[in-house]
Amino acid sequence: EKSGYEHFMIKEIHEQPKAVRDTINAYVKDGQIDLSETGLTDDFLKSLDQLYIVACGSAYHVGVAARYVIEDLTSIHIEVDLASEFRYRNLKLRDHSLVIIISQSGETADSLAALRLAKDKGVPTLAIVNVIGSTIAREADHVMYTLAGPEIAVATTKAYSTQLIATYLFAVEAARARGEITQEKADEMVTEMQTLPEKIERVLNDKDRIQWFAAKFANAKDMFFIGRGLDYAISLEGSLKMKEISYIHSEAYAAGELKHGTISLIEKGTLVVGVMTQSKLFEKTRSNMVEVGSRGGYLMGLTTYGNYSIEDTVNFTVYVPKTDEHFMTSLAVIPLQLLGYYVSCAKGLDVDKPRNLAKSVTVE
Ligand code: F6R
Repeated sequence: EKSGYEHFMIKEIHEQPKAVRDTINAYVKDGQIDLSETGLTDDFLKSLDQLYIVACGSAYHVGVAARYVIEDLTSIHIEVDLASEFRYRNLKLRDHSLVIIISQSGETADSLAALRLAKDKGVPTLAIVNVIGSTIAREADHVMYTLAGPEIAVATTKAYSTQLIATYLFAVEAARARGEITQEKADEMVTEMQTLPEKIERVLNDKDRIQWFAAKFANAKDMFFIGRGLDYAISLEGSLKMKEISYIHSEAYAAGELKHGTISLIEKGTLVVGVMTQSKLFEKTRSNMVEVGSRGGYLMGLTTYGNYSIEDTVNFTVYVPKTDEHFMTSLAVIPLQLLGYYVSCAKGLDVDKPRNLAKSVTVE
């Protein structure tokens, strides 16, 4: 079943172009987004004032990325919360809201409880779910399925990538329905979205370089992933991938926050991955990389082709193709998945079944 791959995780990493393409195709008809299957109407999208995006783990990281994208394209207010926190807050859910639950399995206990709480309060719910007929899919008012197919490795890769796509489709369609972007702009963004599978393929072609780099960090104790804005959301996922399968302590930090404490942890040789895909934040994060570099950090830069000046600042660079900057997470996460995967392999660990973790977390 691993079709010649050594682990399910690397097989699923390679299935991402197809998973992304299938998810786009499910909701794009004749070049335009069509969410009619979900029951989300233009009138409903127009009426929205507030979104609450609620999920756990990597699905929560999709929510963090989605907030930047939806916030940039629409005037909707957005809160993102961990399901295990959302449930226990005394949150006053506002009128004209939608609660979005993101879950691969559709069975995560805290995410399900958050969905039920929203329903009890009379707030409409949308589930972005991979497993057809799962409890969250059955109970939500609206469902958008991701078409990742079955995911076997405990660490999510292709489901995460398709969840991102679902949020882009929602963001662009909401912005169009509300008149916040033109139909032409929406069409252009869909066309760009359709180039993502081929661009992901190009990033995957670079995997040998990442494997070579990863092998040097098999004995690392700590790592840091830093970025601002969407690059911070990508950092959160890169850091989780690393710690869950390679058992190396790692943290994601909003780059500007480092000097408020964490920079004291940087020692000679500590790997710091700087994610720099957002042009307006590039120089800011670069100066944070200079700061950690001067404390002895070993620097990996992750940016887009063309930003070659980064090589003056960092020790190792990974480039990904350019796309609409709202969609950058889809490309930049790939090298970070590969980095976690190859560090785990270099340590000889059980990549697909990391200790203490389960694929579906049905306890609270
Ligand atoms: C990380 C990972 C977990 C899940 C989380 C939510 O690689 O797989 O963090 O993202 O347990 O699971 P679902 O999406 O099934 O609700």
